[in-house]
Amino acid sequence: MSTPSTDKPVPGGKNVLVEFEDGIAWVSLNRPEKRNAMSAELAYEMLAVLEALEIDDRAGVLVLTGTGDAFSAGMDLKDYFRATDGLPVLERLKVYRTNALWQWRLLAPYPKPTIAMVNGWCFGGAFTPLISCDLAIAAEEATFGLSEINWGIIPAGIVTKAVEQVMNQRDCLYYIMTGETFDGKRAKEMGLVNDAVPKDQLRERTRKLARTLLEKNPVVLRAAKQAYKHVRHMNWEQSADYLASKMDQVSVQDRSDGRSEGMKQFLDDKTFKPGLGAYKKS
Ligand code: ACO
Repeated sequence: MSTPSTDKPVPGGKNVLVEFEDGIAWVSLNRPEKRNAMSAELAYEMLAVLEALEIDDRAGVLVLTGTGDAFSAGMDLKDYFRATDGLPVLERLKVYRTNALWQWRLLAPYPKPTIAMVNGWCFGGAFTPLISCDLAIAAEEATFGLSEINWGIIPAGIVTKAVEQVMNQRDCLYYIMTGETFDGKRAKEMGLVNDAVPKDQLRERTRKLARTLLEKNPVVLRAAKQAYKHVRHMNWEQSADYLASKMDQVSVQDRSDGRSEGMKQFLDDKTFKPGLGAYKKS
């Protein structure tokens, strides 16, 4: 992997590793000895990494994955739960808030495209960042589980809400209530991930998807994904009004004026047909 020479430091470095590769930021949860279970320390580091990458030109697309054979074994039962149980309420709330901040409050509407690359174990709390990412590719061999029921807890944090966004009622209740595990192929079948490929093809498949996204107009891509996530919770009238405003926002923010350029290329110059292939920049 190549990291462009720059004076800017690479964020993370302990519980989270970041590698840059031609516009892709590969972000790995990095506690392989704990199957990347998410501790309080990891939450603070991950929040700092996301905030740094938000304004880092080396990151056009963010891929979230895990070091070793796990995506993440969920919340760290020792360092996140047991260690915080005895803390004063305000300190415990701060840790919980930081976790929510990185896992969904910041990640779900993140201004850059995000892909979860599920390389292995994915349990409990790990479903939140998985679902917060815009897109997800899994190894067929990955193992998923809403295992909370086996721990005497419910999929809290925001896990129940997250799975409800992408899986149907029968599948949600089946896995919430049984705690049974399932593989990447089943995750694809249920719409939890976009694609599942053999593990040895996982990185290449993810890289290809990231490169497709890198070719799009980033302002329009940001507006399109955020609009989708917001209109799901609006009625038709609100959606129509919001989308019209969002279009106006794009025209202000998109200094390249992609809309006019696209129409010029199709209607006047006749240099590209979006229906017959990728948008070709002139
Ligand atoms: N929290 C804390 N520590 C964990 C977690 C976790 N969620 N998952 C794994 N670890 C630790 C283990 O305790 C062990 O630590 P140790 O070396 O100090 O004993 C280490 O990571 C390695 O784990 P093993 O179980 O030895 O690894 P193995 O490869 O055999 O199994 C597996 C991996 C299946 C992921 C197993 O660790 C497991 O079942 N973990 C719990 C998964 C889970 O149910 N997570 C949901 C938690 S609830 C929530 O997220 C809200």
